[in-house]
Amino acid sequence: MFDLSGKVALVTGGSRGIGRAIGEGLARHGARVVLAYANGEAQARDAVRAVEESGGRAEAVQLDVTNSAEVEQRIPEIAKRHGRLDILIANAGISIDGLLIRLRDEDLERILAVNLRGAIASARAAIKPMMRARTGRIVFVSSVVGEMGNAGQTAYAASKAALLGVTKSLAREYASRGITVNAISPGFIDTDMTAVLTEEQKQDISTKIPLGRTGTPAEVAAAAVFLASDEAGYITGQSLRVNGGMYM
Ligand code: NAI
Repeated sequence: MFDLSGKVALVTGGSRGIGRAIGEGLARHGARVVLAYANGEAQARDAVRAVEESGGRAEAVQLDVTNSAEVEQRIPEIAKRHGRLDILIANAGISIDGLLIRLRDEDLERILAVNLRGAIASARAAIKPMMRARTGRIVFVSSVVGEMGNAGQTAYAASKAALLGVTKSLAREYASRGITVNAISPGFIDTDMTAVLTEEQKQDISTKIPLGRTGTPAEVAAAAVFLASDEAGYITGQSLRVNGGMYM
């Protein structure tokens, strides 16, 4: 339904989980996809292979979003190599959970560095080629936790709530340039990030989800494909919740 052919998309943290699924979704709809990975080159190559085997076009690029010099260099390189950069999915993220009284400064710093500063740096580098083209799509991957909070996730929630403010500010700042900026707020999605939870914890979470189950990376990817499409051209500054009704 959505045609992304001719478009170039960059997905940060694209080697696995939600980022990989988004990359696969964008490629299935015709985009040429750059899967950026911080480490885990083998996983990234695997993701590229999967895209290519299903007839899409992808490549892997090493990019640690906490290294702003690297971000400032690599993203324009990608845009230059392909002659354009239409879509940025700022997906890279980490969680380090624990009660506030045990929260270490270095963990707080690390979460903000990846989830917030990394996303802003990625957007800053990607927006320049988009401004020149007077069109573009930026999608930040926030979280239900940024909207409703979660005990044990103060730092993570802060970083994800902040992304919603970033989304709205950039949406206002770049609307006149034809660039839309939105967020996706996934609920509880089955990935390596959530694999650390026990079966009991997962069961408990499922009872709080009206649809009665956790989500899949592909269900988040579907939202990203939509927001990246021409059909979503009148949507900006929004957060699309993909959470099974967990938060409304
Ligand atoms: P994941 O842990 O499988 O994937 C995270 C990705 O980010 C990995 O590819 C990792 O290499 C990358 N990454 C980490 N640090 C990086 C850095 N410094 N530079 C570049 N890339 C880096 O987790 P998942 O679940 O796929 O998460 C993807 C995004 O979705 C994250 O932003 C996460 O916070 C968000 N999210 C996940 C939810 C879930 O239930 N799994 C729920 C809501 C949001």
